Amino acid sequence: MCGIVGYVGSRKALPILINGLKRLEYRGYDSAGLALLQDDGLLISKSVGKIKHLEDALGDRSNSQASHGIAHTRWATHGEPNYVNAHPHTDNNCEIALVHNGIIENYRTLREYLVRQGYIIKTDTDTEILAHLIHFSYQGDLVEAVRGALTQVEGAYGIAVVSSLHPDLIVAARKGSPLVIGQGVDENFVASDVSAMLEHTNRVVYLDDDEIAAVTPNTFEITHIDRTRRDPQVEEISWTLDMIEKEGFDHFMLKEIHEQPTTIRNAIRGRLNFEEGIARLNGLNLQYDELRTISRIIITACGTSWHSALIGKYLIEEIARVPVEVEYASEFRYRSPIVDSQTVLFAISQSGETADTLAAMREAKKHGATVLGIVNAVGSTIARESHGGVYIHAGPEIGVASTKAFTSQVMVLTLIANLLGRMRNWSVAQGREMIEAVEAIPAQIESILANEDAIKAIADAYHQATNFLYLGRGINFPVALEGALKLKEISYIHAEGYPAAEMKHGPIALIDENMPVVVIALKDPVYDKVMSNIAEVRARNGRVIAIATEGDTEIADRVNEVIYIPHTHRLLTPCLAVIPLQLLSYHIAVMRDCSVDQPRNLAKSVTVE
Ligand code: M6R
Repeated sequence: MCGIVGYVGSRKALPILINGLKRLEYRGYDSAGLALLQDDGLLISKSVGKIKHLEDALGDRSNSQASHGIAHTRWATHGEPNYVNAHPHTDNNCEIALVHNGIIENYRTLREYLVRQGYIIKTDTDTEILAHLIHFSYQGDLVEAVRGALTQVEGAYGIAVVSSLHPDLIVAARKGSPLVIGQGVDENFVASDVSAMLEHTNRVVYLDDDEIAAVTPNTFEITHIDRTRRDPQVEEISWTLDMIEKEGFDHFMLKEIHEQPTTIRNAIRGRLNFEEGIARLNGLNLQYDELRTISRIIITACGTSWHSALIGKYLIEEIARVPVEVEYASEFRYRSPIVDSQTVLFAISQSGETADTLAAMREAKKHGATVLGIVNAVGSTIARESHGGVYIHAGPEIGVASTKAFTSQVMVLTLIANLLGRMRNWSVAQGREMIEAVEAIPAQIESILANEDAIKAIADAYHQATNFLYLGRGINFPVALEGALKLKEISYIHAEGYPAAEMKHGPIALIDENMPVVVIALKDPVYDKVMSNIAEVRARNGRVIAIATEGDTEIADRVNEVIYIPHTHRLLTPCLAVIPLQLLSYHIAVMRDCSVDQPRNLAKSVTVE
C-alpha cells in the first residue's frame, strides 16, 4: 500500500527520495509526491501515476540542493487518486509537510473542529487533517506538536513530518503502520519498508506502536507518546541489494518463481534431523512437553497465506491428529471467536504487516492464546508481537502476486506438522521418510522450472480465455484455489478454484468448449476419482490442462494438455503442483500485456482493513 521514505543528511536528498520511492513501487500506488526543505522554504511536488511522472513534474527543480526531505507513494483510501489528494499535505502556511500511511478514523470530527478554528481544508483526505492539527499544536517544538496532534487521533498511522522552521529534523511516528529508521554515517533515513533504504544502510531500528522519533543527520531519539524514552537497539538486516533487483529477469514475479529452489533450501536449512526424522524449530519457543499437549490449533491469514494455512490444516491433522481450524483473519477478528489459554494460534503472513492478520492475532492474545508467527519479513510487527514462530527466510518478495513466500510457508507448515507428529504418533521411520522427501524438493522444483517452455506454449494456447476453473482434491484443493488466485490477480481473467468433486454441484453448468479447466490429477489415493471428474469435464467439451505425476502415461490421452511434476511424498505435492500454475499465470499475464508485478488495484502489503 502507501510507501514512505525520508532522508536527512548532507547529500542531495532528491535522488535518494526518488530511488527510495522506486524501491517501494511494488507495494502498489496511484500517485506520488515529495517535500524538500530548501533555504527558501518547502518545495512540494506531486503527480498522479508513476514515479516517472513525479520526476517529469519536477522539471527545473530536479537539481534542488536540499539535503532533507520526505516522499510518499499513495494508494487511495479517502479521496480519489488525483494531484490534490496526493501526499505530502501541508498546513495552511506551508511550513509543515506530512506524509502518512494508514487511516485517521475520526478525521471527520477533527475536520469540523479545525474548520471552526479557521483552517482551510483543501483535500478529501484524512491525512491533511493531521498537518493542520500539528500546526494547531505547534508552540516552537515540532516533536511536541506531533505528539499533541497524535493524542487526538484515532486510527492507524505511520507518518513522517518536516517543517521549514526545523532544518535537519524529521519527526516520524507510528501506530499500526510500519516505520523503520535507517542509520547511516552523518545521515539517517526513515521508511515504511527497509527496501527503500537498503542501498544506503542495513542498520535499522523498527519503531513500535505509539512511538515518536526525532531524526537528525547524526541522532535519533525515540520516545513513547507518553514521553518515556527508549534506548534504540540498532539491528543489522541480512537482505542485500541484489535480493531486491530483477537480475536479468523480465519481472520480479518470474525471478521469484525461479528462486524457489533456493528459498526452499533456506526455509529448511539447519531444520532437518535425518536420524530422528524430525524437524528442529527452536523459534517456536515451546518445549517438547508443551508441543505434546497442544489440543487445538487455529491458523489465521489472508489471501495466498490463507491458502497455505489450508494446506497446514491437512498436514497437521493428518500427521499429528490435532484439530486445526483455518480462519480468514478479517472474519476471525470480528466474530467473537472461542479462544482461551489452551489455544495455539498461528498467524501466517509474508509481509508481517497485514492489518487483519495482526488484529486477529492481537485478539487471540487478549484471550490468552499462545500466538506463533509464520512470517517472511524479519522484524515485522507480526513477528515481533508473536510469542514465538518460524521465519520462512524467503527473502524480499517484490512481485505483488505471492509465489516464493507461498511455497516456503507450506514447507514450514510441513516441518511444524512433522514436529508435532513426531511428538505424538508418528514413528521415526515415518518422520525420516518425510524429511528425506523434503530435502529432495528444491531439485524437483528445478526440474519443473526446466520445463517452462512447454508451460509457456500452453499459456499461448489458452491466454485468450475469459474464464478458468481450477480443480484439486484433498491437500491439493488449496493449490487449486491458489492457482485461480494467481491467474485472476495478474491476468484479470476470472478464475475459480473448487474441490474437484464439488464441480458437479454447480460449476459444471459453466463448462463448454470455451472453459479451460486446470486439474491437479496426481497419482495419489484419489487419482481415480479425479479422473472421473476429468471425464465429466471432457464429456461437456471442456478443455483440460492436467498437472500429473511423472510416469503417468495413461493421462495424456484423457486430457488436452498435461504438465508433469516429479513424484514425491503424498503430503509434499502442493510445493511441486503449484509451480506450473504460477508459471502458467505468469505467461498468460505477459501475453495479455498485463502489469505483472504491480497488478491494478492491488497492494503488496494490505495495512488497512
Ligand atoms: O503479507 P501477507 O501474507 O499477510 O499478505 C496476505 C495477502 O494480502 C496476500 O497473500 C495477497 O493475497 C497476495 N496478493 C497474493 O498473491
